[in-house]
Amino acid sequence: MIGHCSLDGADLQARKKIPEYARNNLRHQSPTGPPRKKKYATCYKKKNSKIMARKVMITGATGLLGRSVYAEFKKKNWEVLGLAFSRATGDLVKLDLNDSNAVRETIQRFKPHAIVHCAAERSPDKVEKDYEASRKLNVECSKNLAQFALEAGAVLIYISTDYVFDGTTPPYTENDVPNPLNQYGISKYEGEEAILDVYKESIILRIPVLYGDEEYLGESAVSSLIKNLLSDKPVKVSNYEIRFPSHTEDIAAICFGLAEKRMKDPSIKHVYHWAGQEALTKYDMVKIIGEQLKLSSEHVLPDDTPSTGAPRPKNTQLSCDKLKRINIGQHTKFSEGVAKSFAKFVQSC
Ligand SMILES: NC(=O)c1ccc[n+]([C@@H]2O[C@H](COP(=O)([O-])OP(=O)(O)OC[C@H]3O[C@@H](n4cnc5c(N)ncnc54)[C@H](OP(=O)(O)O)[C@@H]3O)[C@@H](O)[C@H]2O)c1
Repeated sequence: MIGHCSLDGADLQARKKIPEYARNNLRHQSPTGPPRKKKYATCYKKKNSKIMARKVMITGATGLLGRSVYAEFKKKNWEVLGLAFSRATGDLVKLDLNDSNAVRETIQRFKPHAIVHCAAERSPDKVEKDYEASRKLNVECSKNLAQFALEAGAVLIYISTDYVFDGTTPPYTENDVPNPLNQYGISKYEGEEAILDVYKESIILRIPVLYGDEEYLGESAVSSLIKNLLSDKPVKVSNYEIRFPSHTEDIAAICFGLAEKRMKDPSIKHVYHWAGQEALTKYDMVKIIGEQLKLSSEHVLPDDTPSTGAPRPKNTQLSCDKLKRINIGQHTKFSEGVAKSFAKFVQSC
């Protein structure tokens, strides 16, 4: 009966009860006889394992972090839908998050178990320049996404930042009250609040400055420092603000860990912190990168005054104890991470 095109009410009821993998299998049956055993056994197994896979939707999948998150969930055999905007190619779906109807439809169609929301305007100077557009993306689009995630029953992981803190009293736990110093930090904190307001079971993951496998020199604040090493002109580099850089693969592994744990444990929710385990100024980072890439840093001098541009917090060390208590965490040693990810920039010069 199931092979028939028209279905009455009873058939429909019956069809609903048949798992989709079984329906797919039946669709392949020969109309004149039972399925050939070996072929259909393989087909069933394949379809079955595909249907059983968890599904994740990742926003900002072309971004510095989103690329690693996408790769991590793929590696762990989740079915992944990557969304992107101006750089969407290949398997990624082009979608402007400002188009809320399209976002809702995409979620309703894909039915993700989890959504990792990496898309944002993350440059403090760009946010200062165009606060309205940045606020729309960082706050309004995040709020809409939370509403659609709630409707779809998907876990939402919102990526936030250590810049929600003013950097005067580190280390910061998840219970400390944010006090962002710049518009970027304000927009990300407003994004957190908007999300928790709409969907209080959401997960907020605050992270520090990132670096990783980058598409171009200067994609991250960390790889930008290499430019100082490629010239031999004397240059001053900030030795004031203290950061705890993380490799994007570490954060991707943490996102995956949180999503997996939450599938089994609904108490995994609200705010979590992760950061690299080494306290470094930009000047310290340049020295380490120079050593690892065998580039002289003798001409680089420490600048002990606060950075210019959008106000930056001095020390945003995040306490990672809450994640460590649930056995989630990963840190790539900074020297190893830069050696692994940045060697290509020197080879290509
Ligand atoms: N990078 C850091 O050092 C750092 C530090 C702390 C926290 N974070 C947070 O980590 C998250 C990821 O940052 P990231 O460094 O990966 O950012 P990124 O490299 O700048 O990537 C931003 C992503 O957002 C997408 N996007 C921008 N506008 C969009 C729109 N209108 N509709 C749909 N997608 C849009 C971009 O897509 P296209 O490129 O395809 O247009 C890109 O994939 C952000 O929430 C950021 O605040 C980053």
